[in-house]
Amino acid sequence: MSWVITGGAGYIGAHVIRAMAAAGIPVVVLDDLSTGDPARLPQGVTLVAGSTLDRPLLDRVLAEHEVEGVLHIAAKKQVAESVEQPLRYYRENVEGLRVVLEAAAEAGVRRFLLSSSAAVYGMPDVETVTEDTPCAPINPYGETKLAGEWLVRATGRAHGMGTVALRYFNVAGAAAPELADPGVFNLVPMVFERLAAGQAPLVFGGDYPTADGTCVRDYIHVADVAAAHVAAVQRLREQPDSTELVLNIGRGVGVSVREMLDVIGRVTGLDATGEVVGRRPGDPARVVASAERIAAELGWTARYGVEEMITSAWAGWQLRHP
Ligand code: WQD
Repeated sequence: MSWVITGGAGYIGAHVIRAMAAAGIPVVVLDDLSTGDPARLPQGVTLVAGSTLDRPLLDRVLAEHEVEGVLHIAAKKQVAESVEQPLRYYRENVEGLRVVLEAAAEAGVRRFLLSSSAAVYGMPDVETVTEDTPCAPINPYGETKLAGEWLVRATGRAHGMGTVALRYFNVAGAAAPELADPGVFNLVPMVFERLAAGQAPLVFGGDYPTADGTCVRDYIHVADVAAAHVAAVQRLREQPDSTELVLNIGRGVGVSVREMLDVIGRVTGLDATGEVVGRRPGDPARVVASAERIAAELGWTARYGVEEMITSAWAGWQLRHP
């Protein structure tokens, strides 16, 4: 029995595939290769190149393989782009998911896992964000993830599917250099890019109501994110009927931009002091997960810290930029 993994050739998807393979769970990858890269997949993994919007293709994949469950990771994930192209984000992230759910339900698939995001919380005004903190996304990207959670929950209830939604906080690092995130859209790669160009990293705002004035986030190693998926899959395998979970994937540890720069400076040996510039619109001062529910439900906790995230991300950066 296999698991279909949409978006399996992407940065996070490829890490999940690798962890699933290590756990001995067979997978089939569906990826439109818009940002995915087949070279990230281990030898022998079946890759179907195509879109989640392609219903006949999904029907074929679900008919050709004995499918135990679906891990839906495929999505567009750039906040700024989602503001400029909301219709595209709703099409890919909501309609794409709806089509996958419809095909899965009709094929009798009983287990479904959705990649969601801390973006569903918007600007949470709390020390630690629990899964019961009200969701109030502040951009189309976060809206599509929240709508996706609703779709998954409603479909699970109506069609007897066990469901899990995993809300990722700030993912960083790589399990191997060649699996590193090639995109330069988040703090760590953006700092690397500046350093590589001999420029000071930019700090978006130094006057936030935090200990050092810079924004605080919950950074989580992508290998830990992958391990959380395997734990969720194991739960869905054991208890397909009674599972309806929404879980944060975070460490429960807040790290400021300034603290991240300190570690980056130490790891790279470069001067990563940073130059404080204006705030970036839409940035909450602090977003830190409560990681208690996932520990209680799945027995999962993060293994890696910021040091390992940055060391591994830097190795990946150097591989790409020799
Ligand atoms: C982190 C912090 C920046 C770059 C986003 C999405 C979220 C999720 C993860 C997908 C912020 C600061 C950044 C730089 C800086 N995405 N920063 N200088 O905004 O917390 O979360 O990615 O699911 O939904 O919103 O992540 O990495 O962009 O920023 O000072 O050059 O680093 O202001 O405080 P963010 P990020």
